[in-house]
Amino acid sequence: MSNVFNFTFVPWFRSVAPYIHKLRGSTVVVGVAGEAIAANKLPLIAQDLALIQSMGVQIVLVHGFRPQVNEQLLAKGHTPQYSHGMRITDSVALDCAQEAAGQLRYEIEAAFSQGLPNTPMAGATVRVISGNFVTARPVGLMDGVDFQHSGLVRKIDTEGIQRTLDMGALVLLSPFGFSPTGEAFNLTMEDVATSVAVALQADKLMFLTEVPGIRLDAHDPSSEIDTELPLAAAKTLMAALPAPTQPTDTAFYLQHCIRACEGGVDRSHILPFSVDGALLLEIYTHDGIGTMVVDEKLESVREATMDDVSGIVALIEPFEKDGTLVKRDRTEIERDAGYYTIIEHDGVIFGCAALYPYPEARTGEMAALTVSPDTQSQGDGERLLKRIETRARAQGLQSIFVLTTRTMHWFIKRGFVQVNPDWLPEARKRKYNWDRKSQVLVKKLP
Ligand SMILES: CC(C)(COP(=O)(O)OP(=O)(O)OC[C@H]1O[C@@H](n2cnc3c(N)ncnc32)[C@H](O)[C@@H]1OP(=O)(O)O)[C@@H](O)C(=O)NCCC(=O)NCCS
Repeated sequence: MSNVFNFTFVPWFRSVAPYIHKLRGSTVVVGVAGEAIAANKLPLIAQDLALIQSMGVQIVLVHGFRPQVNEQLLAKGHTPQYSHGMRITDSVALDCAQEAAGQLRYEIEAAFSQGLPNTPMAGATVRVISGNFVTARPVGLMDGVDFQHSGLVRKIDTEGIQRTLDMGALVLLSPFGFSPTGEAFNLTMEDVATSVAVALQADKLMFLTEVPGIRLDAHDPSSEIDTELPLAAAKTLMAALPAPTQPTDTAFYLQHCIRACEGGVDRSHILPFSVDGALLLEIYTHDGIGTMVVDEKLESVREATMDDVSGIVALIEPFEKDGTLVKRDRTEIERDAGYYTIIEHDGVIFGCAALYPYPEARTGEMAALTVSPDTQSQGDGERLLKRIETRARAQGLQSIFVLTTRTMHWFIKRGFVQVNPDWLPEARKRKYNWDRKSQVLVKKLP
């Protein structure tokens, strides 16, 4: 093995460690669109899920089957019928759905049974268990349309699923449910995955879909993907969007993410299956790849007001005294309060960071990033960084930079690169203290 490989592999592997520790013992519900399976992505998705499970994550996998059911319908000379963005399941469609579900379960079990030497599945032992964990009810009539055998989730057998997960198995669910009279109903993958995530109070709900995520400008298909969408912003966006009729509509997966977050699931994600390793990238890297809807109430990250100035001063003072941070007067913080973002728990400020924009250079300085020694290493530093990045993007900035003497590695791990102080915007260079010899680190914003 070459030295170059060691130098890249070891720091890279270590950088993943915090995420592995954080996710160990958590429950993740993954909803895979039928389109992903039709696009032959199943073997790689199974490999990634096996790896995630081996790192102590309990997984419920829900598959979709929209294209597979349509294929069967067309083969029988029937046209798929939809209304209100939902399939109308007549008796032929129900037969097709049952056939498609049977076939897909078979394929998924086969994918998890791979184990050729020298492949990522070598040595993996993933037990896949399916069952009658979902009780359904009919959709019934909507605006005069009879949805026949299309159903909605009525109840989830949480205890049954949890016991199966505790045995170390991966739970596989098809979008099917049965009524107490034994009648079968065709459900949607999204409804089943969301209902299961809420019933289990899962840590994450992840949709692997045909869309790349939610765009920063939902009306501009060329705009960047919004990697983190606070629940409140997600609801505002949802209210402004037309009702979704197909999976590629912005509101389609978003509505389920919102429902999950409101139901107590901390984080819901929309990811593109077209990107190889999308699940790994989203779970084990800082920025992830798709869109994460997050309930910020949990985190209480917010912009500061004048009332927060005393709390900010108390927080950063010890770090000014030991020289980690440069000294800022109270009046300076009062003047700049609007630039600060804080983390508050029960009325006490535990973290802060400021963003000083330099719009002429399309960049901004993140300054005074501080987390209380009582709550360090719990991810608050990262949350502040994320919020500062969101604020910077909203102001049209293309990068953020920091000046640091002691915390360089924390920033490098989070996508910053070191540059020469000459890189600084002119106005900031004039204030640069050449004696302090701070390192300048820059992060380009996606
Ligand atoms: C840097 C700081 C904001 C990080 O806050 P945090 O909430 O602890 O950060 P996170 O929980 O997101 O990350 C914690 C990880 O960063 C590491 N870390 C903390 N300080 C670090 C430093 N100076 N250099 C490198 N890594 C550091 C921790 O060891 C921890 O790693 P682990 O998860 O592998 O155990 C916090 O340590 C702090 O307030 N430091 C003093 C002020 C400061 O240096 N600010 C930066 C000024 S430019």
